[in-house]
Amino acid sequence: MSEHVEEIEALLHEGRRFFPSPDFVAQANATKSIYEIADADPEAFWAEQARGLTWEHPFSTALNWTPPNATWFEDGLLNASVNCLDRHVAAGLGDRVAYFWVGEPEGDQRRITYADLLAMVSQAANALTELGVKAGDRVAIYLPMIPEAVAAMLACARIGAPHSVIFGGFSADALANRILDADCRVVITADGGFRRGAPSALKDNVDAALASCPDVHAVLVVRRTEQAVTWVEGRDHWWHNVVERQAMTHTPEAFPAEHPLYVMYTSGTTAKPKGILHTTAGYLTHVSTTHRMVFDLKADRDVVWTAADIGWVTGHSYIVYGPLCNGATSVLYEGVPDAGGKDRWWRIVEEFGVTILYTAPTTIRTLMKWGDGFPDSHDLSSLRLLGSVGEPINPEAWMWYRSVIGGNNCPIVDTWWQTETGGIMVTPLPGVTATKPGAAMRAFPGISVDVVDHEGNSVPDGEGGFLVVNRPWPGMTRGIWGDPERFIETYWSQVPGRYFAGDGAKRDEDGDLWVLGRIDDVMNVSGHRLSTAEVEHALVAHHAVAEAAVVGAADATTGQAIVAFVTVKANVVVAETLVEELRAHVGQLIGPIAKPKTILITPELPKTRSGKIMRRLLRDVAEHRALGDTTTLLDPAVVEMIDELMRSSSSDD
Ligand code: PRX
Repeated sequence: MSEHVEEIEALLHEGRRFFPSPDFVAQANATKSIYEIADADPEAFWAEQARGLTWEHPFSTALNWTPPNATWFEDGLLNASVNCLDRHVAAGLGDRVAYFWVGEPEGDQRRITYADLLAMVSQAANALTELGVKAGDRVAIYLPMIPEAVAAMLACARIGAPHSVIFGGFSADALANRILDADCRVVITADGGFRRGAPSALKDNVDAALASCPDVHAVLVVRRTEQAVTWVEGRDHWWHNVVERQAMTHTPEAFPAEHPLYVMYTSGTTAKPKGILHTTAGYLTHVSTTHRMVFDLKADRDVVWTAADIGWVTGHSYIVYGPLCNGATSVLYEGVPDAGGKDRWWRIVEEFGVTILYTAPTTIRTLMKWGDGFPDSHDLSSLRLLGSVGEPINPEAWMWYRSVIGGNNCPIVDTWWQTETGGIMVTPLPGVTATKPGAAMRAFPGISVDVVDHEGNSVPDGEGGFLVVNRPWPGMTRGIWGDPERFIETYWSQVPGRYFAGDGAKRDEDGDLWVLGRIDDVMNVSGHRLSTAEVEHALVAHHAVAEAAVVGAADATTGQAIVAFVTVKANVVVAETLVEELRAHVGQLIGPIAKPKTILITPELPKTRSGKIMRRLLRDVAEHRALGDTTTLLDPAVVEMIDELMRSSSSDD
């Protein structure tokens, strides 16, 4: 890898930028003028994009903005699932593949055309209606990465029932909290899914969760792993019994543009996850436009692989709604990158001729760690564009992605966005913008961002500040489910009148944007968003724990790793097994993704005179840095002792 490091250092030293080949530029979907056109009249730009959707009744105005509430295309009527499916089938594209599905077990594959998917969705919509689901009712989806997950989402959208997809890695407790918060009455799940070679226990988790969700009256269960499951008569229904006996046609109803499409839970700075609400037309406009321009999509030729989970927003926007609105062909892969060998991904790229690959830096770093031999032994020449999302990408990983995976021939789009933004906000435009290793470059056309100080003044180039969005955009969240106050306080109060994203950023001397990562108590672990408060909350719920402080520490592979500092109650004798017990406990309350990498049991936590835990100093400890200013501490000796403890425990490893 050292030759890459030298190459990168030389490039960064030169401030090197990359431009796509003249051939790429000549055929690119986006042109230079798009920025000027969109800047001159952003609403007109978005309205033109929205006209690319199929409307039952056209809209007359683009934006209504009463800060901080925006509506887009408000008087228009449409159906999301018609836009994803029916219109393509009606245009004669029924035989086009919507998904090449690849299960984790070798050889487990399905090929689903647009006509197939429309039939599945129609049947599922009929089944949900039979189960009593009506427009406006919320449906929870807790499924592995199988075609039924997409069908379930679109069936909900088709009948106007907002879905709440919950990542399969969440525990029963986390699932129950989300079902209760959104007041879901129906759950769609599977007997399990395959991950790391073993079937997961999705149905067991649903059963455990529903013990505290008495209002759920129906559970639809897809058979995937064939493992035995417990069954609640009258409540549980097999998908293959209820869905597959339905008619394959379904007459869709048109809904208002602002009809809720889905709720997606994400972590904020408090212990309670927020239900981020997205509505229909603005969201579809944003994700389809960005999918077409940022990925330079040629729907009749490309094979798009957004290697993310459907349980997160990247899956919603760029596996489901964006690609389907654009009539694209995607790969949907169920499992982990090294199932069946560390070259599994590259075999998939080769077999299906993937042209556009989109994934997170943490995965890129893992693939890089496994060595060049795995990608080098496969023909990856079908690839023509690579994307990155979810966390800042370090220049070394960026360059490896470019040279080893892209053969120095694919533009790389580093895309910054969030669950709340619905779609991509800051990104290079391939064929138009240059790219730099590690920079997200500039706002997408029609979107306006800035880097500001506490007062909301733009900071000079080269200085860091807060990343804000200046005006509403179509995919913007319409609020936090059931908590309008929190919506205003979280996003619109830090810098009045502007959307505050929670990230730090800077502009370089060329004015190009570099996103520096979260500046609040939100951690980013392997591209998963977790709040320090949420993990602390889980730790103090353990009977032995008195206090807990959690920080995200820089980690070479996962971006950040969770480090917890814990004090135990006075009468507790610390057993050797306590750390493992605490990790398992957090896994049970939230999910395996939230298990701390390191837990340090300490007699005390560093506090200010007013009793606040000094996380800044704990971050210094966790990252093995010299301790910052300790003068405001009640007792500086405490943090010095913790630092010593950390050093001796790391040297034991
Ligand atoms: O900190 C930013 C980081 O991920 C956060 C959003 O997480 P989530 O809502 O889970 O959505 C992830 C997928 C869109 C942001 O606040 N982030 C996302 N993309 C980038 C990024 N940080 C740096 N560069 C990016 N390209």
